[in-house]
Amino acid sequence: MDYLPDENRYEQMVYNRCGASGLKLPALSLGLWYNFGSKDPLENCRAILRRSFDLGITHFDLANNYGAPPGSAEETFGTIFKQDFAPYRDELIISNKAGYLMWPGPYGEWGSRKYLVASCDQSLKRTGLDYFDIFYSHRPDPHTPLEETMSALDFIVRSGRALYVGISTYSPQQTHDAAEILRDLGTPCLIHQPRYNMFDRWIEGALLETLKNCGIGCICFSPLDQGILTDKYLEVIPGESRAGKYKNKLHWGDEVTPERVGKAVKLNEVARKRQQTLAQMAIAWVLRHPGMSSALIGASQVSQVEGIE
Ligand SMILES: NC(=O)c1ccc[n+]([C@@H]2O[C@H](COP(=O)([O-])OP(=O)(O)OC[C@H]3O[C@@H](n4cnc5c(N)ncnc54)[C@H](OP(=O)(O)O)[C@@H]3O)[C@@H](O)[C@H]2O)c1
Repeated sequence: MDYLPDENRYEQMVYNRCGASGLKLPALSLGLWYNFGSKDPLENCRAILRRSFDLGITHFDLANNYGAPPGSAEETFGTIFKQDFAPYRDELIISNKAGYLMWPGPYGEWGSRKYLVASCDQSLKRTGLDYFDIFYSHRPDPHTPLEETMSALDFIVRSGRALYVGISTYSPQQTHDAAEILRDLGTPCLIHQPRYNMFDRWIEGALLETLKNCGIGCICFSPLDQGILTDKYLEVIPGESRAGKYKNKLHWGDEVTPERVGKAVKLNEVARKRQQTLAQMAIAWVLRHPGMSSALIGASQVSQVEGIE
């Protein structure tokens, strides 16, 4: 059935200015890292994307390697975009990234100009989009001069492949240096995408200060610590959960340990007193920083997006 977005979609969501730019991002953004691969049911993916947009979530975040397998989340998104969202392209902020392994040989990962431009072209093909709104260097490359990586981002904008550029998981010093190079090239760094949640507070202090000084916005990923900061794991590890499916071997060393669950149980009690769910409190917690433009969540079900709103 043809998709008609909710007419009231802009009434509830808060939109925050992204750093010193002219761009506003929804307080809640949706990432397609998990749950949008080739084996994930297309109709569930469609339902999550539709409901998100209906709730005012105008920003969808991709990367070349999201799936599984790598590239398949872009294909899923491309299929649904063409069928449902093409008339709304100008209402959407779609980001993409390159940095992690995508193809064999010396040009399939990290931060060379060769890799970033080729990967961006592949991502445009897989999604069927004409351009990305934001293109990121997904991770700093210790072996490529920062000038080369940043000039590749500048080229990606100047050649019409993206409108803005960002960096992800760069340290405060790397962020400062990248921002200076990009500023001199005339393509300011729009945004930084770090991991941030109640269990991982590394950005507090130097990184947030650097972002403020450089006029760069911030969108934090895994604000729910991949689901650990929700009521999902308070009693057991459900078989259908991310930790259940991946045998508790989650990225970034996250595990559903008794220690973490113990903390989540206590935090859940705090949330209850605030008349919030733990997930809602975890999102409000990351958004308390004035410089935090958006919280970038993942979802395996429509009800998860609805529950946080
Ligand atoms: N730049 C980077 O290096 C980087 C790295 C990682 C992620 N990211 C971006 O950040 C996005 C979000 O990351 P994330 O998926 O780790 O975020 P997250 O929001 O911390 O975790 C999302 C997962 O938590 C569970 N969940 C969500 N809402 C829930 C609720 N209300 N109740 C119970 N469980 C709930 C779901 O897992 P179940 O499957 O268990 O239901 C969902 O898939 C990614 O999609 C990607 O776009 C970027």
